[in-house]
Amino acid sequence: MLEIAAVTAPGARLHRAGLPDLPFDDDRFDAVLANFVVNHVPDPRAGVRELARVTRSGGRVVATVWPSGRNAQSRLWAAVVEASGAVPVPSVRLPQERDFPRTVRGLSALLSQAGLQEVCAGTIHWEHRGDPTSLWRGAEAGIGGIGTTVVAQTAEVRRRMRAEYERLVAPLVDEGRLAFRTTALLAVGTRP
Ligand SMILES: C[S@@+](CC[C@H](N)C(=O)[O-])C[C@H]1O[C@@H](n2cnc3c(N)ncnc32)[C@H](O)[C@@H]1O
Repeated sequence: MLEIAAVTAPGARLHRAGLPDLPFDDDRFDAVLANFVVNHVPDPRAGVRELARVTRSGGRVVATVWPSGRNAQSRLWAAVVEASGAVPVPSVRLPQERDFPRTVRGLSALLSQAGLQEVCAGTIHWEHRGDPTSLWRGAEAGIGGIGTTVVAQTAEVRRRMRAEYERLVAPLVDEGRLAFRTTALLAVGTRP
């Protein structure tokens, strides 16, 4: 991500750090964005509190997460797993006391509990476009839940998964581009 950011935001100062301990003073930033991050951290509440801490009074914290339930992409991967006979690796869940509902209300409450005010949350939809080969390469490299399953298979099952992926992704590809209708949860709150 740092390498990509260096290209897409030349001149930006980049830091490597991890929630819930950011190496920044209180009230440092006007706006703080955590795009599909709080769904990856071991303690989402502590993570959002930290995002709020580094935001100045009147500044905004914005977070997106994937909603619970299936989407077009996870349906594709589930079909690949089933058709290839792969053994899925169950996803690791946070302990119940640390987890939060991946719903509009759940994300909204997460921001409110971190002391943010005027919290506004909703669902956003867009068309996710990409290259079908890159999507497979990400899974093959172990990225995401499907990646965990792909790398746990034998070479023979991985080959079957690849073949089933090619077959099942074809109807979603137009002129070499893959397009999924997708949905995320987005919440914004203001630091008091
Ligand atoms: C799905 S990626 C999203 C990346 C980027 N924000 C975007 O929207 O393309 C999840 C990101 O969360 C980061 N991440 C995972 N654990 C983290 C933590 N404890 N603190 C901060 N970031 C973390 C990962 O390094 C990764 O860049």
